[in-house]
Amino acid sequence: MAVVETKIEEGVGVVTINRPEALNAINSDVMEGLLQAVAAFDADDAIGCIVLTGAGDKAFVAGADIKEMASKSYMEMYLDDRQSGWEVFANTRKPMVAAVNGFALGGGCEIAMMCDFIIASDKAKFGQPEIKLGVIPGWGGTQRLAKAVGKAKAMDLILTGRMMDAAEAERAGLVARIVQHENLMDEAMAAAKAIAGFGRPSVMLAKEAVNRAFETTLAEGIHFERRAFYSLFATDDQKEGMAAFAEKRAPEFKNR
Ligand code: CAA
Repeated sequence: MAVVETKIEEGVGVVTINRPEALNAINSDVMEGLLQAVAAFDADDAIGCIVLTGAGDKAFVAGADIKEMASKSYMEMYLDDRQSGWEVFANTRKPMVAAVNGFALGGGCEIAMMCDFIIASDKAKFGQPEIKLGVIPGWGGTQRLAKAVGKAKAMDLILTGRMMDAAEAERAGLVARIVQHENLMDEAMAAAKAIAGFGRPSVMLAKEAVNRAFETTLAEGIHFERRAFYSLFATDDQKEGMAAFAEKRAPEFKNR
């Protein structure tokens, strides 16, 4: 069994981290498989949305593999610079939905935050427990968690290492919605299939525009959005989407 499994369903690329015996902890093999799988779906014209989840009933991802990291030296970490691989993952152009089915801790919480939104099972638990290991989050957690939930809760979670349940994560704005554990994949797939069914140009520009909000000033962000909005009037999908509305029929987007 591969440590990262993929399948395609109605335009959705599903990536499952499959190492349940270690609560899907990310070792080098998993990281390589995950980065490859996501990059391949991102480049595939047939894919409109990606769903990321963890195998088994207990964990999404319980973090980077502690046992693999334990004996590393500073120089090994610095020269290897494996973490920089996440830059590509986080810059995926197709939307990515994290279907969080259990523990999302450390690197697991960070990977979920690199996705565009999180749908959580009511059994999900989130946290950045690195402080308990004598380190700090290393895959963007101090930055993305602070942006997602604000300074107070980010400090609370990162400095105490405590976990929060799905309800607290939703109240804090980390999670888009909570669903019953047994319905998680159905709900995540329904959302992803809906996204994959829309016109690719508008979906990709919508993602890009929302992400601008985290990188620039309000005035620049609004300027970016307006330019992107106007540009969509050069697409066939805009003509089709608006004509279909007026003709009271379902649109047939061609991603052009
Ligand atoms: N790395 C390596 N192995 C892990 C792991 C991890 N992050 N998390 C769990 N495992 C392994 C356990 O060692 C155990 O393996 P064995 O059966 O061989 O002993 C197996 O998965 C099952 O785990 P537990 O027996 O611990 O399960 P539990 O239900 O008692 O506890 C848990 C669950 C609270 C999630 C606990 O496993 C835990 O605390 N895991 C570590 C969480 C963590 O600290 N994550 C941060 C990692 S550092 C990081 O991610 C840095 C970064 O920013 C990139």
